Amino acid sequence: MTAKDIDNNVINYEKSLEYWADIPATVDGVLGGFGFISDADIEGSTIFLNSLLSSKNPPCTNTAIDCGAGIGRITKFLLTQFFKSVDIVEPDSKFISTIKDFVGENKEKVGNLYNVGLQEFHPVKKYDVIWNQWVLGYLKDMDLISYLVRCSNALNENGIIVVKENVTSSGKPENDDNDSSVTRSLKQYLKIFKDANLKRIKQVKQTNFPNGIYPVYMFALVPICNNSGLYNNVCNATEKYVSEINKL
Ligand SMILES: C[S@@+](CC[C@H](N)C(=O)[O-])C[C@H]1O[C@@H](n2cnc3c(N)ncnc32)[C@H](O)[C@@H]1O
Repeated sequence: MTAKDIDNNVINYEKSLEYWADIPATVDGVLGGFGFISDADIEGSTIFLNSLLSSKNPPCTNTAIDCGAGIGRITKFLLTQFFKSVDIVEPDSKFISTIKDFVGENKEKVGNLYNVGLQEFHPVKKYDVIWNQWVLGYLKDMDLISYLVRCSNALNENGIIVVKENVTSSGKPENDDNDSSVTRSLKQYLKIFKDANLKRIKQVKQTNFPNGIYPVYMFALVPICNNSGLYNNVCNATEKYVSEINKL
């Protein structure tokens, strides 16, 4: 299967934007009526991030970016608790104008706000952690691969891309015409990561979510090692997690 073969999902960026334009700027709004899972989600992410930050060659905690941030739920409850500065990417102008108020006491940690879709986002800085959650289903496969490659080039030394997304239980992609998104299978995500030259150093399934919703996976991704020495630290960190991935 080539990258071209998997570019078969029907995604319309304008339609997604129209959908989100009608959604209230609340936690319940950005979580599609599932606001009650936010605490468990943040708890799972906190454990995941803590494990990355306590690994042998951890990322620094200077700067992170929250991609497809909505109202800044993850920025407020997770990223500003760990990082000195957090940038934001969010295409909905109503959400992005809410973020600083919503983040509240840590709002001085909110850095640059980029009011664009991820398919158009070209990072101009380097980041220690690039957090993507419940947003990659809005990107076409080829745009997602290109975006992940740009993220890869925007990592500081030991930097990590985090992806936290729903996956289908059926093993097949499932389209949602309402918001013009796709829920991918685990296998599709793994293929996309490979095509973007990314390697998983950690993968964890979120627990404590209610029955009846899609399984949610967290992935920590780093650029695949080359021989230039640039990613030697990352390679070392990767070895530490190989056995964990092998257990999956
Ligand atoms: C389900 S909400 C998740 C928000 C946030 N990540 C969270 O977990 O609280 C999806 C978000 O993705 C944004 N979005 C939709 N299409 C996007 C795109 N092409 N690029 C970036 N963000 C997008 C929406 O505006 C919305 O804020």
